[in-house]
Amino acid sequence: MTAISAMEPLLPEESKVLENLAIDLVAKASTLAGRVNPVLAASIGDLVRSMNCYYSNLIEGHQTLPVDIDRALKNDYAAEPERRNLQKEARAHIEVQRLVDRGEAPSPVVSTEFILWVHREFCQRLPDELLWITNPGTGERLRVVPGELRQRHVKVGRHVPIDPDDIPAFLKRFAEAYNSPMLSTLRKVIAVAASHHRLLWIHPFLDGNGRVTRLFSHAWLRELGIGSDLWAVSRGLARQVDQYKKMLMAADEPRRGDLDGRGNLTQQGLNEFCEFFLKTCVDQVTFMKGLLEPAELLRRIEIWCEEEVRARRLPRGSWPLLKEAVVTGEFPRGKAGELSGYETRQARTVLSTLTDQGYLTSESHRSSVRLGFPAKIIDRWFPRLYVAPVT
Ligand SMILES: Nc1ncnc2c1ncn2[C@@H]1O[C@H](COP(=O)(O)OP(=O)(O)O)[C@@H](O)[C@H]1O
Ligand SMILES: [Mg+2]
Repeated sequence: MTAISAMEPLLPEESKVLENLAIDLVAKASTLAGRVNPVLAASIGDLVRSMNCYYSNLIEGHQTLPVDIDRALKNDYAAEPERRNLQKEARAHIEVQRLVDRGEAPSPVVSTEFILWVHREFCQRLPDELLWITNPGTGERLRVVPGELRQRHVKVGRHVPIDPDDIPAFLKRFAEAYNSPMLSTLRKVIAVAASHHRLLWIHPFLDGNGRVTRLFSHAWLRELGIGSDLWAVSRGLARQVDQYKKMLMAADEPRRGDLDGRGNLTQQGLNEFCEFFLKTCVDQVTFMKGLLEPAELLRRIEIWCEEEVRARRLPRGSWPLLKEAVVTGEFPRGKAGELSGYETRQARTVLSTLTDQGYLTSESHRSSVRLGFPAKIIDRWFPRLYVAPVT
């Protein structure tokens, strides 16, 4: 039985650097939602959920291209098993995040129940082939059971997480400590960073800990009113994946002598991990704020649209329709004539070209249309959202 104090400290030492980062994050995140109208924000939420699954899976070495993610969401799976499995994994991640974002997950987030729920919901959507892992020591094949704590020892890099029998008690302590009413909101923002490490340190599951932990952090930030479906920390973690793993590993180290806090684990390592994590959050919110700057967003789409019209891939009169969708969020189909300045028949052609190509979408053939984001335009409308090559 490992003493529960083995996980101490659970919080970093008080630090101006961390406080300032947390304040910065709260301030920047609060202005993000107001950048675009609610209808457009909802569509961008879908886009960012796809992006989040892309990066969170990429950290685990699983790459699914945006176009394949798009297809998976339309039930269009590749024939090739490996690619199809990755598409299913992408969709599983998106669906679980969507449940979280709609407030359909157990609350509070910081609870054993929520953590088990994420694992169960994610893993039960995975194809069987992705639920098997190989024990690197013995070559033995083990099946991951959705929502079940591991019953084996595992090794993550150099870290050997706690004995499986001890996991329930550590998760209980984890929930008590991070839910403590003694924590100010600002301390809680810092605690999101610390808990990200400590959950991975516990490593409750045979597999899936990375994805579950990143969804957990997203959900907790969201519960605190800072996270939203308009940004995702995974993008930043994936872009510095070596550093992410190095910082995780450094915070697993035992205390380095008398000046390194009073717990079993290094205080300095935890402070540094929190700084890294919060900085990554601030970077990602800043990036999305830039991307959603309304005048710039309009300009990018307009330049792209002009090129498409010149290349005769889009009819003249397309831009006013797209612009209306960006500015007001959605408009009734009947307004296409007035917007494009064309006769009804010609206006209908413009509208149907834009909907056929997915630049405008709607629930049905009759309802209002809103902006759509087919994979082929993401790089033009939202440059650098996907930093790995998009094909
Ligand atoms: N030294 C470490 N200490 C703690 N966590 C680590 C360490 N190295 C990697 N990790 C975390 O473990 C995750 C991998 O665990 P795993 O159970 O395989 O999750 P997944 O199946 O989602 O990849 C990585 O994404 C990373 O977040
Ligand atoms: Mg794994």
